[in-house]
Amino acid sequence: MVVEKLVAGGYSLAHLPNNKAVLLDGGYPDEFVEIQIDREKKDLAFGRVTKVLTPSQKRRKPRCKHFGECGGCRWQDIEYSYQLDMKREILREQFFRIAHMDVEVEKVEASPNEFEYRNIAEFTFQARKLGFKRWRSSSVVDIKRCWICPKTFSDIARRMREIVEILNLPIYNWKSSEGVLKHLVLRQNSRGDLMIIIVTKTEHLPNSREITRLMTRHFPAASIVHLMNAKDSIVLRGPYRILKGEGVITEETDWYTFQIPPTAFFQVNLPVALKMAEYVYEEIHPDKNAVLIDMYTGVGFLAINSSHGFRKVLGVDSNRVAIKAAVSNANINRVRNVEFVNQDVEDFATNMPECDRVILDPPRQGISKRVLEKIVDRRPKRVLYVACDTASLARDVRKFVDAGYKLEKLAIFDMFPQTHHIETVATLTM
Ligand SMILES: C[S@@+](CC[C@H](N)C(=O)[O-])C[C@H]1O[C@@H](n2cnc3c(N)ncnc32)[C@H](O)[C@@H]1O
Repeated sequence: MVVEKLVAGGYSLAHLPNNKAVLLDGGYPDEFVEIQIDREKKDLAFGRVTKVLTPSQKRRKPRCKHFGECGGCRWQDIEYSYQLDMKREILREQFFRIAHMDVEVEKVEASPNEFEYRNIAEFTFQARKLGFKRWRSSSVVDIKRCWICPKTFSDIARRMREIVEILNLPIYNWKSSEGVLKHLVLRQNSRGDLMIIIVTKTEHLPNSREITRLMTRHFPAASIVHLMNAKDSIVLRGPYRILKGEGVITEETDWYTFQIPPTAFFQVNLPVALKMAEYVYEEIHPDKNAVLIDMYTGVGFLAINSSHGFRKVLGVDSNRVAIKAAVSNANINRVRNVEFVNQDVEDFATNMPECDRVILDPPRQGISKRVLEKIVDRRPKRVLYVACDTASLARDVRKFVDAGYKLEKLAIFDMFPQTHHIETVATLTM
C-alpha cells in the first residue's frame, strides 16, 4: 500500500483496501510499503511498516545506532528540511481537523543545530540499563550515545553505569516499587557547565559521598544533586540536596542571565528559544503603558525577556522552586517591573487581574476552559500562545476564536529536530 502522509503523534497514514484509515509506525509519504496490522477499531486500524518497497527520495542514513529502537527520535532517517515541511503540514492538518480552520503557517524557524542541541536529558534506570524508553513502551533502551544531546551526556551516563557496578547501588524496580535509583538527569549550559541530578525513590542515597568522589574524578567541574522523588509519573519533582557545587545552572544570553534550579523547566534548545522569545516580544506589541501577564512562566524566561517593553509584567507558575528562581532572576538582571506569583493558574485566574497582553506557555494538555474564559473576560488585546502540543493548541485557539479573537499568525520554532514534536507560537488578537 501507499503511505499518504505523516500525521500528529509520530504516525504515518494510509488506507486499507476497504478504505479504513490505518495509523502506521514508520513510512514516509508516497512510499510503497508492506505493513502489519496490530490493532483494529471500528473505523481505524493501527499497524507498522514491515518493509519499504520504494523508499522516499528524502530518506537518509540515521546517525544514531539506537534509531528505530529508542523512542526519542522518529525522523532521523529523513532530511532535516523535509522534517520542517512535514511539521508545517501536520500543524495545518491539526487545525483543519480539530479547529475546523484553514490556516497558513507563516514561519518555520529551523534549529541552527540539527544534532547535539538538547541542554537537558532524562535517563531512566531499569535493571542494568540506563537510557530512554522504547517507542510506546515502558521498557528502557540502554543508550550508548545520544546524538541530540551533547556527547558529554553519554560519557556521564557511561560513568554512572560504572559507579553503579563498583558500589553495587540498588536500582529501582518499576513494577515492585522497591530499590533506589530511578533517573539520571543531566543539564548543560551553553558555556559547558554541567549539572548531574541523581533521582531516587527513597530519601536516602546510599554511598552518596563515594558517588560524588567517583563522578568528580571524571567530571571535576560538574555540580551534583540528589533529588528525592517518591512519585513515579514525573521525573523532576521533590526535595533535593546539593552534594557538590552550585544548586543552579546559569544560562547567560546576550540580554539576560537565568539561573535554573534542578527541578525547574527551561527551554531545551536555547538558540531556538531565543529566536522564539524575540518573536514573542515582537508579536505581543510592547507598550510602555500596558500590563503583561505571563502564565506558566517557569523561571521567568519570557516574562523577563519581554519586561523592557511594558509598564508591568506579572509571571505565574505553580512550581515554587521555579518562582523562587524567577524572583532572583529578576533581581540579577535588575528588572524592577516584574512580579512573580507562585500559584496554580486555575486559582490565579479566579481573580484574574486587569491586563492588556497575555503570554501562555502551558504543558501539553493546554489550558482549561475555565482559565480561557477568565482570560477572555479581561479582553487582553493580544494573546501569545506558545504550545508544545498541536492538538490542545488547535482546540484552545478555536475557543479563543469563538470568543471573538482572531488568529493572526502561526509560527513553528523547531526546538526538537529529528523528533515529531512541534513547538508553535500562535498570535491571537482582539
Ligand atoms: C512549558 S513550561 C513553560 C516555561 C516558561 N514559559 C519558559 O519559557 O521557560 C510550563 C510551565 O508551566 C508550569 N505549570 C504547569 N501546570 C501549571 C499550573 N496548573 N499552574 C501554573 N503553572 C503550571 C510548570 O511548572 C512549567 O514551569
